[in-house]
Amino acid sequence: MTYTLGARDEEQERLLWQSRAYGDLEAIAFKSGETVIEAGCGVGANLWIVPEFSIGSYIGFDISKEQIAKASQIAQSLSINNARLFVGDILDENLLDKGIADTIFIRLVLIHLKEPERALKNLMASSKAGGRVLAIEPDSYAYTVGPNMRNLQRCWQKRCELAYGPKQGTIDVAARLDQIFSSAGISQVRTRQHLIEVTSAEEDRMRKFLNGWMVMIKSVASQLIEKNLITQSELDSAIAEVETPDVNTVLHQYLTICEGVVG
Ligand SMILES: C[S@@+](CC[C@H](N)C(=O)[O-])C[C@H]1O[C@@H](n2cnc3c(N)ncnc32)[C@H](O)[C@@H]1O
Repeated sequence: MTYTLGARDEEQERLLWQSRAYGDLEAIAFKSGETVIEAGCGVGANLWIVPEFSIGSYIGFDISKEQIAKASQIAQSLSINNARLFVGDILDENLLDKGIADTIFIRLVLIHLKEPERALKNLMASSKAGGRVLAIEPDSYAYTVGPNMRNLQRCWQKRCELAYGPKQGTIDVAARLDQIFSSAGISQVRTRQHLIEVTSAEEDRMRKFLNGWMVMIKSVASQLIEKNLITQSELDSAIAEVETPDVNTVLHQYLTICEGVVG
């Protein structure tokens, strides 16, 4: 299994930027002293929650050793000494100790998996009885940008079909997150949507979000062209559109936040 976005510098920078920029974590509380497992922690973009909430113990793992190396640097830069970071696959049943977590946290990862329910079930075994499961997933295919960014919108959607299609992901995971939680056996499931709206009035923010889309498109651009999903000319036009947003450009991204209880 490979992670389509890879671990190039610009992708790692994008992950670090988006933890705060998406704003989805602003309304989430962690309890002081609790043990949190973050599955697919990536470059450690969410490690800031450890000092901010006085988390007792943080266990983060990711399938990519490059991401974990970066996460270890981030932990060091934040002077965090109660985090354990290691390489591991969410589907490995022997990866985690059983019954240790107060909160299992998973953000922007299930969309990359073919079997999100199996991943949740596996993680639940490492939860204490009554522990919380918290997942945040993007409805990436529904993201919109416009009105004058037709090529960018098309390249984005084709990129989502390729990256989260049935061979390697679950494109509609956000829309079905509550059902997936319930069928994994999680109870007291609550779901809400987090909307990100960016307008051209926020020039710098707009530039960063558009750049984020382009980084994700470029990571699979050659495959998109080889598979005739987009043309080189559509890609070039999308790049030109990103360089010249106009005053009417509006970008929307949607995330689903789902919480529930084990047991
Ligand atoms: C979009 S990043 C999100 C990272 C982090 N959760 C965040 O909010 O910044 C997705 C991460 O999931 C990891 N990942 C994908 N499949 C995985 C698996 N089977 N087990 C563990 N990590 C996985 C990738 O390596 C990548 O770092």
